[in-house]
Amino acid sequence: MISLKGKAAIITGGGRGLGKAVALQLALEGIDIGITGRNEENLKATVEEIRGIGVKAAYAVFDIGAEEEVKTGINQLVTELGGVDILINNAGIGDFGTLESMPSQKWEQVFRTNLFGVYYAAMAVFPHLKAKGEGDIVNIASTAGLKGGSTMSAYAASKAAVISLSQSMMAEWRKQNIRVITLTPSTIATDMSIQGGLTDGDTDKVLQPEDFAEWVRDMLKMNRRALVASASIFSSNP
Ligand SMILES: NC(=O)c1ccc[n+]([C@@H]2O[C@H](COP(=O)([O-])OP(=O)(O)OC[C@H]3O[C@@H](n4cnc5c(N)ncnc54)[C@H](OP(=O)(O)O)[C@@H]3O)[C@@H](O)[C@H]2O)c1
Repeated sequence: MISLKGKAAIITGGGRGLGKAVALQLALEGIDIGITGRNEENLKATVEEIRGIGVKAAYAVFDIGAEEEVKTGINQLVTELGGVDILINNAGIGDFGTLESMPSQKWEQVFRTNLFGVYYAAMAVFPHLKAKGEGDIVNIASTAGLKGGSTMSAYAASKAAVISLSQSMMAEWRKQNIRVITLTPSTIATDMSIQGGLTDGDTDKVLQPEDFAEWVRDMLKMNRRALVASASIFSSNP
């Protein structure tokens, strides 16, 4: 395993949930951290927590579905951190409902956030990684993207598209020593899964954000000749 100390990572949606857990875990490895989101209060509090670990931390507030805002925000973080080596494409929304009940505007918003958000953030970080000659991009899809399901149409379709986009990114960018990792986690106890009714109420039975964060850390720590192209994680006995 390699050391990640001194690297810089940007984590979209890093103010809460899985993004925050990954941000804290990577900070423990000695990585400087930039986080993004819409809720400035959460971002500020998380940045303070990360600084307490002893690494540099910064935040940028923007909507991941707005291309120009993403570009400006990512570039601002790269400047503040003095570079970027790792992008965790984590920001996403889980809007669930039947095809009949979900208005088309909601459908478009899910796609704008979950699919275009991943694309915009990756395109904003890519020139920096290309200039450096190496880097890592972790795109967080979902097991929902592997198979559609009732009340999941928009979310599952957006995540299926993320899987496909991420595979194409991997095929193109591995030639520049950029590892693109596509992750398809199952249910993890966060606001999204709890509010979306994806657990049976007993959240202790399912994966916790720190399980996910340790998994991401370990994949990034693999020797640079090794690339986990895609992987799933499930609760053992939910
Ligand atoms: N939890 C699960 O069971 C599970 C399973 C599989 C995959 N995932 C995926 O894992 C990722 C993180 O999920 P989570 O469970 O941590 O969800 P969460 O607790 O609801 O957090 C979502 C994160 O995304 C950010 N975000 C949402 N919409 C945004 C927007 N328009 N612009 C900027 N930031 C936005 C939020 O930041 P603000 O609040 O600051 O806007 C927040 O940090 C998502 O992509 C999700 O689809 C989750």
